[in-house]
Amino acid sequence: MSKEQTAGQQAGSKLAVVIMAAGKGTRLKSHRPKVLHEIGGKPLLSHVIAAASHIVAPAAIYTVIGHQAKRVREAVAASGVCFVEQADQRGTGHAIQCAREAIAGYDNILVLSGDVPLIRPETIAQVWNFHQAEHAAMTILTAAPEDPTGYGRVLRRSPESPVVEAIVEQKALTPEQRSIREINSGIYAFKTAPLLKHLDKLTANNAHGELYLTDMAGLLRTAGERVVTVQAAEAAEVLGANTIAELVALDATLRAATASRLMAAGVTIFKPETCVIDAEVEVAPDTVIEPFVQLLGRTRIGSDCLIRSYSVLENCAVGNQVLVRQSCVLTESTVADGAKIGPFAHLRPGSEIGEDAHIGNFVETKKARLGKGAKANHLTYLGDAEIGAKTNIGAGVITCNYDGVHKYTTRIGEGVFVGSDSTLVAPVTIEDEAYIGAGSCITKDVPSGALAVGRAHQVTKEGWVAARRARQKMQE
Ligand code: UD1
Ligand code: CA
Repeated sequence: MSKEQTAGQQAGSKLAVVIMAAGKGTRLKSHRPKVLHEIGGKPLLSHVIAAASHIVAPAAIYTVIGHQAKRVREAVAASGVCFVEQADQRGTGHAIQCAREAIAGYDNILVLSGDVPLIRPETIAQVWNFHQAEHAAMTILTAAPEDPTGYGRVLRRSPESPVVEAIVEQKALTPEQRSIREINSGIYAFKTAPLLKHLDKLTANNAHGELYLTDMAGLLRTAGERVVTVQAAEAAEVLGANTIAELVALDATLRAATASRLMAAGVTIFKPETCVIDAEVEVAPDTVIEPFVQLLGRTRIGSDCLIRSYSVLENCAVGNQVLVRQSCVLTESTVADGAKIGPFAHLRPGSEIGEDAHIGNFVETKKARLGKGAKANHLTYLGDAEIGAKTNIGAGVITCNYDGVHKYTTRIGEGVFVGSDSTLVAPVTIEDEAYIGAGSCITKDVPSGALAVGRAHQVTKEGWVAARRARQKMQE
């Protein structure tokens, strides 16, 4: 349980969070629901849920879903939040009407927008604390971005007045009101009783023919309730993602923040603007990331590593002092301390590269475990393979793991030497210290310390070339 939550409950005030996420996202012109579009490698809605989970337990988070509800629900179900269905999306006010039963038992609710993903828990807590201190019926989180176009504006009795008269949507602004820079972030706190009392007074008498939650500001104000605002320190934190351009801008903001977080923690990132680093990536100090690197998903990298340009690591765990040379692709794999990878290596899911092991250029691994100090330096495929410590895999070696129907394992012991261009037809076991002659096709197990050579004998015919030339000359 978070500090904020404890504080809220001590005050004897039961709090729930409602996340509005039912909309289609028409302006994105996408088949994917808006809240499942990603920034920093994670859906917009997941960012909002993560922030809300710092304030209340997931069981007190109600996510309003509607457009492609099943898909949205499945995408975030693991977070443990509750869902409320808004079958037809008749506006943000209607979204809250649909959550009426869910929120009735709470004294207050915080309303978040599923498409405002950069909101920080600290700012949500600030809204909640301000709301309580002000004993307000409605607290609106506002901001003053450079360009307020497209957002609802906060209308005050006079520019300096703390009294909020209403929120006016972009399309309904008079020419003079268009110069108002104070925007509605779409994030609010409400006292539940007055909200529910006046919620049915919303009308669809507006440009979109929708029930606007923003109209609650005017309705509550008219009913003599207290409506206040609190301004976000950074406007960038409350910007929405309504178009692809806005989405890409939020992604850039988030990635810049991630890069700054890592650099502040001692990681060197050259040209961070060229790197794609997902929000949940962790890197330890003294590691250097070169330009054009992608670190995706839940990738973890230790200290004193060098990740060279054009390498892409997704959901990988990398130890300390690891070198990943240029243009490697590593997916769902682990790399232990001191290992050297690449250039141009492909570690597919389930690869476990041991301490000080080497994976060289044009080597592909899949579900392959390499022991300490094992080496596969050139042009090799190692699939479903176990390779012991200090074993050397020569250039061009292939583990033939697939007969068209089933996959089989190749087991290679410690200190084995596999000569270049050998094919190992699985299932097959090569025991410790064995030696495989170059160019062998190995179909039978090889005992410890043995030499196995499985190749055609060489035939050498002396003088053959001259004899052939002589034959050809006679035929002319
Ligand atoms: C809304 C506000 C606007 C504010 C802006 C901040 C209204 C009428 N306007 O505008 O004042 O400046 O957010 O970002 O609220 N949703 C539902 N059900 C619906 C409609 C929308 O759940 O029927 C959800 C959407 O999925 C979205 C959120 O509510 O996550 C906001 O809806 P959106 O259509 O993006 O509102 P804006 O036009 O951005
Ligand atoms: Ca929006």
